[in-house]
Amino acid sequence: MNKEALKQRILELKKKKNAVILAHNYQRKDIQDIADILGDSLDLSRKAKNLDKDIIVFAGVRFMAETAKILSPSKKVLLPSPDANCEMADMAKREDVIRLRKQYPDAKIVCYVNTYAEVKAECDICCTSRNAKNVVKSLDAKRIVFIPDRNLAHYVQKEVPEKEIIPFDGYCYVHDELITQKDLILQKEMHKNAKIIAHPEAREEVLQMADFVASTNGMLKIIEEEPYDEYIIATEADMTTRLANMFPNKKFYPASKKAICRGMKSITLENIYESLLKEQYEVVLEEDIIKRAQKALLKMIEIS
Ligand code: 13P
Ligand code: SF4
Repeated sequence: MNKEALKQRILELKKKKNAVILAHNYQRKDIQDIADILGDSLDLSRKAKNLDKDIIVFAGVRFMAETAKILSPSKKVLLPSPDANCEMADMAKREDVIRLRKQYPDAKIVCYVNTYAEVKAECDICCTSRNAKNVVKSLDAKRIVFIPDRNLAHYVQKEVPEKEIIPFDGYCYVHDELITQKDLILQKEMHKNAKIIAHPEAREEVLQMADFVASTNGMLKIIEEEPYDEYIIATEADMTTRLANMFPNKKFYPASKKAICRGMKSITLENIYESLLKEQYEVVLEEDIIKRAQKALLKMIEIS
């Protein structure tokens, strides 16, 4: 089946089954084209909460589909690929949170949304890259254990110096390893007038070179508001696809073309079609985990 026919089939099935497709900003153009809602983690979490559909198909990674299930437990949530993992979320286990709580009894524990449900269930509150600073500021504790992203933890520490952030040693290989300072220097030499926007999952030396630091939706907002015509984008390479679609008169250069998230890219038009057709792979979570993880997510949404 060619791509256009496949897209047509997906749209038909979506209608027939009263389904909705949520997609993260890192998805490929074909998937961005058929998504009902495209966004960053915060946006997708908020929107997953009040959908009047029977099925949610999540074109993103597992923790995002789990978040949709936690916030809409009565809906059937489908993740089209069993390989759609976030390798940073894989680094933090429930036992780590339990151990850290014992080790730092006076601290509050903040879980980045890039964690699995059973990890969220053990923490005090969640955050995304967009609201991490405000979430940490809102807590009535001086010490904050921040799980799992060490780079985001470091960024928040700089922004909120009045707190003591205790970082977990997790990281995202796309931002930490595949986007280097050297890449930015090279891009800047080629595009002298371009401004640099970096995701806070990137290393400190990359953030230091950036004109702006933002979540993926935060990037959209900056470009909308700022007068500049060219940007170097230091995050997953397909973010430039999303930006080029939205701002056809501006130019976007990925900091590194190698910055590709394997989990995100395991979602394809083919497996979205199969997912809708066979209603696979359903996200199933224990009721107790849903309840406890929901508390942490709702607290976050309340203050965002
Ligand atoms: P955003 O919430 O900024 O979209 O980031 C999600 C993510 O996984 C970044 O790697
Ligand atoms: Fe996880 Fe990194 Fe992929 Fe984002 S880009 S989903 S943090 S592995």
